[in-house]
Amino acid sequence: MQLTREQQMIQKTAREFARRDLAALAAERDKNHEYPAESLKKMGELGLLGMLVPEQYGGEELGTVSYVLAMTEVAYACAATAVIMSVHNSICCGSLLRFGTEDQKQKYLKPMTAGDIICSFALSEPEAGSDPASMQTTAEKDGDSYILNGTKRWITGGATSKLFIVLARTDPEAGHKGISAFLVTRDMEGFATGRLEDKMGQCASDTTDLLFTNCRVPVDHLLGNEGEGFIVAMSGLDDGRIGIAALSLGLGQAALDQAVDYARQRVQFGRPIAQNQGLRWMIADMATDVEAARQLVLNAADKKDQGERCSKEISMAKLYASEMANRVTGQALQVHGGYGYTKEFPVERLYRDARVLTIYEGTSEIQKMVIANEVLGDKKKPKK
Ligand code: CAA
Repeated sequence: MQLTREQQMIQKTAREFARRDLAALAAERDKNHEYPAESLKKMGELGLLGMLVPEQYGGEELGTVSYVLAMTEVAYACAATAVIMSVHNSICCGSLLRFGTEDQKQKYLKPMTAGDIICSFALSEPEAGSDPASMQTTAEKDGDSYILNGTKRWITGGATSKLFIVLARTDPEAGHKGISAFLVTRDMEGFATGRLEDKMGQCASDTTDLLFTNCRVPVDHLLGNEGEGFIVAMSGLDDGRIGIAALSLGLGQAALDQAVDYARQRVQFGRPIAQNQGLRWMIADMATDVEAARQLVLNAADKKDQGERCSKEISMAKLYASEMANRVTGQALQVHGGYGYTKEFPVERLYRDARVLTIYEGTSEIQKMVIANEVLGDKKKPKK
């Protein structure tokens, strides 16, 4: 795909920022589990937190292709920062744009695009991961409020974000049609952050439970109509998954580049290991894998920009790119030999950071369900 001048500019700006500001801090932030607050503020100033939001709400509306290009660059330097960027830009800003009232958009989108408010998405629960329609968190109408009760799990930014899109059950009898979406702010009474997960990777981005105990949410914080929450979540996840696909691509590219650098300079048996055919074939496989993922990501992004239905292409990109990132980071670690297994080389972090990519925002198995449903055409098509 031929990038426009504007897309190339955005890629260059994101690359310069990520390699200058994020890369240098990524290892330390990972080690200390330090949230990248300062970097997120700068990203707001650079327009990286409202990339799909129209100018009237403070964004740049640069399109999905530009968005995935920028996401790839940010992930190349720091996957933990990239996942915060992804959830915020795509699921959160996207859902507000699609389902928000004019007042909600006016109130939240400007501070979100500026990076003053980072938003998170709360769908999963202890007993509802791949099957969110079985969620148990309830939202009961009481006068001009809804009262939320329940626990959300695996929430990216649960300890740090100021705003949350929370899915809760407003009708216990109506299955997925009984779920509604709410805009919940951290200061609402009855809202608390629960346990912090001690994760394997992406440690600079916190992942926590959210606890709702008679949390009173004003009715004007309902996002979309009552009962429309599952559609808010599913269409939000289409947006989110393309971000995670691009994140995976950035991680894979970083691992490939690290492996190439190392193979060129590591001398064994009197010559750089890059001169060994076994290693050259490995590099060729890795480069082909990264390129295949890039084409799937750009194709899905382009289709989205053309306004075409593209859940299948997005799931294909997420499936392939996240599996690729796991393969390629593993191979890059192998190229580094024993050094790759130490924290002296960034490839160790890339390997850990890649592992969750085939799990969050829909496991690989869920992506295959979405793809198969579309290919076989035996499920009702989504309306939005
Ligand atoms: N867009 C809009 N609507 C959609 C849709 C889409 N992409 N996909 C489905 N829908 C609609 C359907 O049209 C249907 O609507 P109607 O009732 O009006 O006909 C409704 O949603 C139900 O569809 P299904 O019957 O297909 O739903 P299902 O219960 O069988 O589930 C699923 C389908 C794809 C498996 C879905 O449950 C799913 O995606 N599961 C995985 C959940 C997930 O990805 N969780 C990640 C958590 S978020 C996270 O990780 C974020 C983070 O912090 C990093």
